[in-house]
Amino acid sequence: MADASLPPPPDSPELADAAGMLRSAYVHIPFCRRRCPYCDFAVVTPDEGGTPYTVTRYVQAVIAEIGMERPWGPLDAVNFGGGTPSSLPPSALAAILDALKRRFGVAPDAEISIEANPEDWDGEYAEAVRSIGFTRVSLGVQSFDPKVLIALGRLHSPELAVSAVRRSQAIGFESVSVDLIYGTPDETLESWEQTVATTLGLGPDHVSAYSLTVELGTELSRRVRAGDPAPDPDDQADKYLHFAEAAADAGLIRYEVSNWARPGHVCRYNLSTWAQGEYLAFGLGAHGHRDGVRRRNVRRLDVYLDRVARAERPEAGADRIEGWAAEQERLLLGLRRAGGAVAGPAGDALLRSDEGARFSDAGLIAVESGRIRVLDPLLTDEVVRAVLALPPH
Ligand SMILES: C[S@@+](CC[C@H](N)C(=O)[O-])C[C@H]1O[C@@H](n2cnc3c(N)ncnc32)[C@H](O)[C@@H]1O
Ligand code: SF4
Repeated sequence: MADASLPPPPDSPELADAAGMLRSAYVHIPFCRRRCPYCDFAVVTPDEGGTPYTVTRYVQAVIAEIGMERPWGPLDAVNFGGGTPSSLPPSALAAILDALKRRFGVAPDAEISIEANPEDWDGEYAEAVRSIGFTRVSLGVQSFDPKVLIALGRLHSPELAVSAVRRSQAIGFESVSVDLIYGTPDETLESWEQTVATTLGLGPDHVSAYSLTVELGTELSRRVRAGDPAPDPDDQADKYLHFAEAAADAGLIRYEVSNWARPGHVCRYNLSTWAQGEYLAFGLGAHGHRDGVRRRNVRRLDVYLDRVARAERPEAGADRIEGWAAEQERLLLGLRRAGGAVAGPAGDALLRSDEGARFSDAGLIAVESGRIRVLDPLLTDEVVRAVLALPPH
């Protein structure tokens, strides 16, 4: 019998499914001091027009875009992501948050999260962000090895990252998360082990650990095409397994392929997106999901600003996801979670398929109490591909 005194695990299936009922909002802040060579997010650097004037116009445009969205009930989770949200002055963050509160309301116990770069996170700034009402910070640490930080084009030192984590904890953010990247070609296993030890030694509430991915169109992909070494999948698998083991020893529980949390610190915003929940999205290149429609905003800053100035939605496209496509999407999002997904029609079709039988025989997936789970997170993409290949039912 479960010990009633223990907090629930971060991804109890009930909690994960219920997250689909949350109301969330994402705000994209595209500005970065410079572009990291691996990054293909919607980013604007000072050379690309990210001047103080455009930043001010952008903040006003995001507030105007918030005013264009139909009213909704109070938000349970708000996520400011980027780009680099911590490049904005606290007054600008407060103005956007205030616009969300006025338009939709924000629940008193809402998770209000911000992605921050360690080089921005000095004491005065972090205190101001906390006092505005942000409850959670996700720090873009990536590595504690100075050589790896240079290879990744980052602007902070390991020492700055340590003090950013400690400062966030001392100031009283309810959840402090650390983002890591593993498998940079020059990163040795020892370097990664040291990064993992330093991270876990700081006692974060949450860690996201991503394998370095070579995205098309990035500086990294150009360098790899020109002959630089690419990340090695075997090395990345070893590093993933090392992290998984060390994180479990430190009391962090994996709730998604790349996300670990201490009980009570699962990111509600993340969980709602993986439970096919609804979230509003504002800003450059932002993606939202409401009333069965997935919409995405334009990725060009001048187009975004012009469209909003003309009181038009800055939408680049929208797709209604329904029927079999919605069912497939529900399953493949759920399979990324440690708690898996209710099998449903797509899960049943997977289990009846040759691929599904092969996965079951190999112990890659398990079915328990009507839910399907992927037992080897490193092979999640293989299962997801099989779900996508299922013929419509
Ligand atoms: C897009 S960044 C935005 C937040 C912040 N600017 C930063 O760099 O930390 C969010 C996270 O995405 C991850 N990321 C971005 N591009 C990636 C890539 N090509 N491979 C692996 N992780 C990546 C990094 O871990 C990063 O912390
Ligand atoms: S990884 Fe972060 S800091 Fe680097 S360019 Fe992308 S959004 Fe900006």
